[in-house]
Amino acid sequence: MSEVSIKEKLQAILADACSKIDNSDALDKLNEVRVSVLGKKGELTTVLKGMKDVAPEDRPKVGQMVNEARSEIEARLDAAKKRMEEEERAKKLQEEVIDVTLPARKANVGHRHPNTIALEEVERIFVGMGYEVVEGPEVEYDLYNFEKLNIPKNHPAKDEQDTFYINNEIVLRTQTSPVQARVMEQGKLPIRMIAPGRVFRSDEVDATHSPSFHQIEGLVVDKHITFSDLKGTLAEFARELFGPDTKTKFRPHHFPFTEPSAEMDVSCFKCGGKGCRFCKGSGWIEILGCGMVHPHVFEMCGIDPDEYTGFAFGVGLERIALLKYEIDDMRLLYENDDRFLRQF
Ligand code: DAH
Repeated sequence: MSEVSIKEKLQAILADACSKIDNSDALDKLNEVRVSVLGKKGELTTVLKGMKDVAPEDRPKVGQMVNEARSEIEARLDAAKKRMEEEERAKKLQEEVIDVTLPARKANVGHRHPNTIALEEVERIFVGMGYEVVEGPEVEYDLYNFEKLNIPKNHPAKDEQDTFYINNEIVLRTQTSPVQARVMEQGKLPIRMIAPGRVFRSDEVDATHSPSFHQIEGLVVDKHITFSDLKGTLAEFARELFGPDTKTKFRPHHFPFTEPSAEMDVSCFKCGGKGCRFCKGSGWIEILGCGMVHPHVFEMCGIDPDEYTGFAFGVGLERIALLKYEIDDMRLLYENDDRFLRQF
């Protein structure tokens, strides 16, 4: 091959490579060009292999031309690569641009539920008087929910509580009172405890009822506990919860597991006892059930009623929350609406 025809060939390869490089729009396309021109079987390499057919005196010249073409193509490939990488980087930066002037998105922090606030308040009061906070199961034996609390089978008091039965022996507890029996059975005396928790009754939902609500049970068992201890303790509880001027009143009542039994009313903390919409004009608000632990209950739980006496009480947690925070519909407590919860 003559020097001239090789020169033409090189120019053709160079022109072709340049146009392919210019038309490449991605790094892998550039690589294809590099392989097809400069690679082992590439066009330029083939020209070099043809050197043996070139007249010896022309070889240095031809060799130089091939090298120049190679350098030229390499330089163009490098330039194109650099340009593409820069474009890609610019594009990425553009996509990831952060507008630092946008208002920050606030983390949405919830709020303590009125039930929780009320419960912590009640716990604070009783723990301050030396009580322990204990828990019992929500799915309970009929034995603990009723029988050991002196509510035998077929007792009318059982009908008062519309119960969710799992089977003949197991119920969703209708009250927190079964925790009393469980703690007494353990036999560690004396006892000063409260047991907060969820209870269930087959009730229709309305402004004052829900099939699931919460109670706080209280139990004190020791030697020489009297009704005066009950009154003094619960009166102090009422003053702590509703204010130092709160008066209390005990009305006789019936609960199967206490004898005598009572319901405690507190003077209306809204009107001070004069009578208002809040206390339905009476000046008093019913707040809890209580009484002296029935000797039968002691016996069924393995405690000698001749040696020990005690008092118990049960209070509805929602009732306290509704009264304390002046909420007039219980359903609001279960909607989990942040706009409502934030107010307390
Ligand atoms: N368990 C009763 C109820 O659900 C409340 C109660 C009343 C509990 C008197 C007591 C008590 O411990 O002594 O209505």
